[in-house]
Formats: sequence, structure tokens, C-alpha cells
Amino acid sequence: MCGIVGYIGKNNAVKPLIDGLYRLEYRGYDSAGIALLTQDNIFLKKVAGRVNELDKAIRNEPLQSHIGIAHTRWATHGVPNDINAHPHTDCKNQIAVVHNGIIENFRTLKQFLVKKGHKFQSETDSEVIPHLIEEFYDGDLMAAVRKACSYIKGTYGFVIISLASPGYIIASRMGSPLVIGRGKGEYIVASDLAAIISYTNEVIYLKDGDIAEISSDHLRVEGCESGMVFPEIEKVNLTLEQIERRGYKHFMLKEIYEQPIILRDTIRGRLNYEDGIARLNGISNYIEDLRDADRIIIIACGTSWHAGLIGEYMIESLAEIPVEVEYGSEFRYRRPVLKKGTICIVVSQSGETADTLAALREAKRHGATVLGICNVVGSSIARETDAGIYIHAGPEIGVASTKAFMGQIMTFALLSLLLGRLRRLSVDEGRDIINAIEKIPDQLQSLLDKLPDKIKKLARTFKDHRNFLYLGRGYNFPVALEGALKLKEISYIHAEGYPAAEMKHGPIALIDKNMPVVVIAIKDAIYDKVISNIEEIRARQGIVIAVGSEGDTQLKKYVDYVIYVPETMDHLYPLLTILPLQLLAYYIADYRGLDVDKPRNLAKSVTVE
Ligand code: AGP
Ligand code: GLU
Repeated sequence: MCGIVGYIGKNNAVKPLIDGLYRLEYRGYDSAGIALLTQDNIFLKKVAGRVNELDKAIRNEPLQSHIGIAHTRWATHGVPNDINAHPHTDCKNQIAVVHNGIIENFRTLKQFLVKKGHKFQSETDSEVIPHLIEEFYDGDLMAAVRKACSYIKGTYGFVIISLASPGYIIASRMGSPLVIGRGKGEYIVASDLAAIISYTNEVIYLKDGDIAEISSDHLRVEGCESGMVFPEIEKVNLTLEQIERRGYKHFMLKEIYEQPIILRDTIRGRLNYEDGIARLNGISNYIEDLRDADRIIIIACGTSWHAGLIGEYMIESLAEIPVEVEYGSEFRYRRPVLKKGTICIVVSQSGETADTLAALREAKRHGATVLGICNVVGSSIARETDAGIYIHAGPEIGVASTKAFMGQIMTFALLSLLLGRLRRLSVDEGRDIINAIEKIPDQLQSLLDKLPDKIKKLARTFKDHRNFLYLGRGYNFPVALEGALKLKEISYIHAEGYPAAEMKHGPIALIDKNMPVVVIAIKDAIYDKVISNIEEIRARQGIVIAVGSEGDTQLKKYVDYVIYVPETMDHLYPLLTILPLQLLAYYIADYRGLDVDKPRNLAKSVTVE
């Protein structure tokens, strides 16, 4: 997601635009730009880097305008550089646009527009918007925008200025937020209230499909179906800080709640139901190498390593390609055996983790093909891999990774579907997996709607315990590891994750009435084995908190507490079973009064050895 701002009014547009970008920088910060309508042209300045770079770049320009737009970017398509920064313009620099979202069919639209003679400057998906409007413009800007919107598939929130219509700006949204602030003789439109609140507390929330025509003293909104709409003016009384976290107490909680939304972005444009297959354009040149690989080595650290472990289980079971998972810090110093036919996949949210980056370079020194699964576009790892897949999770501010982990798992689900279909899965099996994948965001949302109260009670009960064990088997063994890491890193309580059956080989000596044991016991092929492990724990007075499948009426007989998740395919369960563990860690840490977003000793990106 990124931050967009538009201004039209009696004052100079520059200050509200730049101030607005600073307020929205938590939404994205890899590049920034501004466009201002002057007497006879559009002034445009775009720079790679943070808003401050843009601010410095225009500081000595005598800019005077009453209409403008601005953007701070979180790249999804096209590396962060000056050219890919927004605003983007049409061929004649008569129309400028800032966009938040992902245009799923931008390649098709770009081909259509190039055939019509349009010249593109950037690699972004967003740049198709001004060229579409230019293509359809015949004197009525609103009509051209409406027609352009009808061609776009995906998500957008955009704001437009045009020399052809100097008296107003146009804003529209589909799937990305846009709010309009009404001031005295001025309007500000932005991605969220943070950019508006210091100018006015009277706001209008656009709805999906709305197109707003905004002059300095007038607002007209057309709805997607019903023609004119009469938007309701609301008064807000939130503090800026509350707004940046969208009312959540911590960024980590906000990011946990964003997970259904980001999974839709991870999936967007990547499922082909007809052929029962996933489409991963970022690695299209390496699909055959992957299909024919003798071995895949997944390399990562921390939470990303846990996602890699789930990826191993997925790829081996669906595509029958041998996979192993390595810590970046280990791989880089041992003498790895990399034969021809080995493909490496490095996984990293930040794309800057030193150990993972070093391992990538070591693998390349051995001549291996190295692919990436990253969140931050244009990051070092993203740039140094031969190709890669972006998870589109948006900026993850909380140090403890949550939504990025979810995006990584979903990306492995897409990759294992693709490779499985290329090697052994039937089209019907592929379609069944696609059906199950498409249900996950709503299933997650249903959990977010009903779990918190139960989890808060558990957190209050167990917040003062000094040790936890987390157990899981199969796909949920890495989930147990991740649940333990979440608790450790934000609550400072010692927790260990284990394969459930490993209890017998030592850790069971730890079990007593003071040891809470979180066990993932969903109704999969090894459910009965997990029940046996639970009985071993209960026989020693261990306290068992189970994560089970909805509809399992047996489980509660064996455990002290149970949290249910919806049923899905075995290999997709991690996308659901991790959620209660993220929430449990969050609420325990919060009830212990700790700094959840910035835990002691940790950093969001470990760029040192
Ligand atoms: C996860 O909650 C931690 N913040 C940490 O383990 C993190 O996953 C690890 O440092 C790897 O970071 P990366 O994904 O950015 O490479
Ligand atoms: N997809 C657009 C780009 O990559 C906008 C990204 C965003 O909304 O963060 O420039």
C-alpha cells in the first residue's frame, strides 16, 4: 500500500501535499513525487527515497499552485526509482495520476495502449491509468475516467489532475481507501485521515466504485451503479497517532488484522481456475528449471525460515521435488554441495537480512540459480536474485513478523500448486486447491471476528508463566516453531517449538502442572498421533491449549482449552493455525505492558551478521 494526497483550494497546495506525505509515510516510503497544476503546464518532481528527499528537491523551487497531487510509494511493480515513482502522466503531460493498489491486468492494458501509440516511461502497473484516460478523453474528463475504470481489474485508489480541467481534481477508488476532507475553501483527498486531520475534521469516505469531482468549494460524487450519490459528511476526533495505526493499539495488531486483505493481494492475478494452476510471472523464465530441478534449497532466517519449512513440506508433497531448508547464517559458512540442477530460493520480508543476502551470494558464487520470495520491492535480495516473487504484503512496521509470514506461506502454496500441476497433479486437483486457497481470506476474517475475546482470556490466564512448549506435526510443526518465536520475541517468555512426537525424546521431562503446552491438533492424517502426544502430556499434569478443527467434537475431551479453526486442505492449515498463536503472543505481551512493536534487543531488519 502507499500514501496518496490531493489538494484543491484557496491556499498554496505544496504545504498540505508535502505535510500529507509525511503523515502517510508509514504506508510506504521507497520513493515520492508531486505534481502541481500551473498556468500552462503540470510541474512534476519525483525522487527515489523518502519524503524528505522530495521535500529537499523542491525546497528551492518557487512553487505556487492551488491544485496538486502527491505520492509516497510502496512499490509492487517496478523497482523504487525516480521513473517508477508517482505521479505518472499521459503522453502529452496533460494528465497526472497518483495510484494506490495493484492493477492486475496492466500488461494487457499496456499492450492495448502501446498498439494505440502510447509511450510509456515506467515499469509500473499504475502508469496505464493516465494513458487510458488520455485514450478515452473527448472533452469530458469524468466520462473518460469512468470508462478507464471499467477497463481496470484489480485495486485502485487514485487522484487525477488535468490541464484540460483546471478547476477540479478527480478521485476514485476500488479496493483501496480514499477519504476526502472538507476545509474552508479547500478540499484534501488522501489514503487515510492522517493526511487530513490537521486541516479539517469534516470528512467523506468514498465507497468502492465512487468517482468524485472536487473543486475548491464543491464536491460531486457519482456512484458506480446509481449515478449521483449524496455523501455523508462525518466528523472525526482521532489523534494522529491513533490514525496511523488505524485505531489499533500497535502496528503488530493492525498487521495481524490486515492479513485477510494482504492475502488477497498475494493471490491477486495469480490463480488460473480454468487450468487449475498458479501464474507467477516473476519467475516465468525459470519455471522449467524448477519443474526439472533435482533439488531445491530454501534459505532464510527467523520467521522466514519457518515459512521455508512449510514451503518444503508443500513442494515435496505436491510436486515431489526434494527440498531442504537452510538457515542463511549456516549456509553461508559451511561448504554447501550445489550441483547442477539445484535451485535455491531465498525468502526474506525485508530483502536486506545480512545472513540471507550472504548466503544468496555464496550460492551464486557456486553457479546456482537463485530465486527470491520478498516483500520489499527493489531490496538488495530482490535485486540480486535471478528472479523472484513479491508477496505484496505492504509495509510491515511491527518488528515481529505476522502478515509477511502469511504472505510467504501463501506464496509457497501458489508455487507448490504450479509445480505440482507441472509434474503430477490433475487439473481437477489443481482446481480443488484453488477453491481452498480462495476461501482462506474469508476464513481468516471469520477467525478475527470471533477469536480475540477467547484469546484475551487465555492471555490473562497464562501471561505470568515463565515457560511454554509449542507442538505440532507435519505442516503444523513449523507453525509451532513460529508460535514459540512470536511469544519469545515480544513477551520475553521462554518458549520452544517441537515436533509433537519429539516430546518423548527429552522435552517431556519439562512437563508439570506449571507448563502450558500449545498443541496444534487439527483433523489431518496424523490427528490420532497428536492425540496420543496430548495424552502423554496430560498424564504428567501438563496444561494443554489445543488448536483444533471446527466440528471436531472429540478434542475438548483431551485438553484444557481449545481454539477452533475452519477446515481446509492439510497443506493450507498453517494459514489458519498461525493466527491464534499470533494473537496469543500479542495479548500476553500487551498484558505484560511491553513494547510490542519494538521489542528489546530486536530490529526489524537484521542487516548485520
Ligand atoms: C520475525 O518475527 C523476526 N522479526 C525475525 O525472525 C525475522 O523473521 C528475521 O530476522 C528474517 O527477516 P527477513 O524476513 O526480513 O529476512
Ligand atoms: N502498484 C503501484 C506501484 O507499484 C502502487 C503500489 C502501492 O499501492 O503501494 O507503483
